[in-house]
Amino acid sequence: MFKPEKFVEEQIEFIRDSVPGKAIIACSGGVDSMVAAVIASKALGDRLLAVYVDNGLMRKGETDEVRGMFDSMDLNYRIVDAGDRFFAALAGLTDPEAKRKAIGETFIRVFEKEAKEFGAGTLVQGTIAPDWIESGDGVRDTIKSHHNVGGLPKDMGMTLCEPLRDLYKDEVRKVARYFGIKSSERQPFPGPGLSVRCLGEVNPENIAIVREACFIVEDEVKKASDEGKMELPWQYFAALLPSKSVGVQGDRRAYGRTVVIRAVGSIDGMTAEFARIPLDVLDKISRRITNTMKDQVNRVVYDITNKPPATIEWE
Ligand code: XMP
Repeated sequence: MFKPEKFVEEQIEFIRDSVPGKAIIACSGGVDSMVAAVIASKALGDRLLAVYVDNGLMRKGETDEVRGMFDSMDLNYRIVDAGDRFFAALAGLTDPEAKRKAIGETFIRVFEKEAKEFGAGTLVQGTIAPDWIESGDGVRDTIKSHHNVGGLPKDMGMTLCEPLRDLYKDEVRKVARYFGIKSSERQPFPGPGLSVRCLGEVNPENIAIVREACFIVEDEVKKASDEGKMELPWQYFAALLPSKSVGVQGDRRAYGRTVVIRAVGSIDGMTAEFARIPLDVLDKISRRITNTMKDQVNRVVYDITNKPPATIEWE
């Protein structure tokens, strides 16, 4: 049986033993990095700086929410606005692995700069077991290069420290509840952010569409769950397809984008079943997306594949 208190004690000791001077932690505000940050700050105190990078690929309102979380915790932190750098690194890329690697590399360059200024030689990360299992470790095949694993450049000038490496999501949540961390029940959000939900080219216009679509899916699903129409799925979001299709708007021909609704049930993200969202909830989501983004989106579809054979995210 997994015991959060025992795990935390062991990891505090592990971090104290393995981090000689100062460290920074890459903190996205998600449950993994927040748990890693709390444990690392217990181990290192003022020798730790939590860095949140606004990469321009975050959800609606997310940066403000994370700032609020940091403010409520006893933690040294910095918020870095780096959207332009990420969009420049992603320009012209359409291959999912190339996109993930470009994001991983840009993250590291930003962190390296922050670490240098802070005088840190160690980068703490909230990497969990599925991240490195799916990134391939020599024995396994690479399914996706999670940006915090396969995307790391070889010449990275920092030592890595990964206290959550052996945990699965449900165990991380147990530790988060033990600490009373606000994001403990938040749905998972991938490290490369909305870019893995934006098929084809990632640019500010496409990200704005998928950001709004994700917000609408989250909002409508939460409302439906509050009204007792459905249980909250494990994860629920939208993705934007790169192709266009024909539609009608009033009496005119339209040629617009397609948004996919994705919602799944899972325990640890390693396997998943598509969620049975009631049709009237799907109908509401579809109408709201096409009304809000009339000029961009004219088709909404629902993904009914499990993992395997699909993955949860589209890239
Ligand atoms: P997939 O799409 O591989 O996702 O079925 C499994 C779970 O992991 C999340 N995910 C990521 N999390 N870095 C992360 O920290 C990543 O690069 C990444 N890619 C996917 C995904 O949202 C799902 O919860």
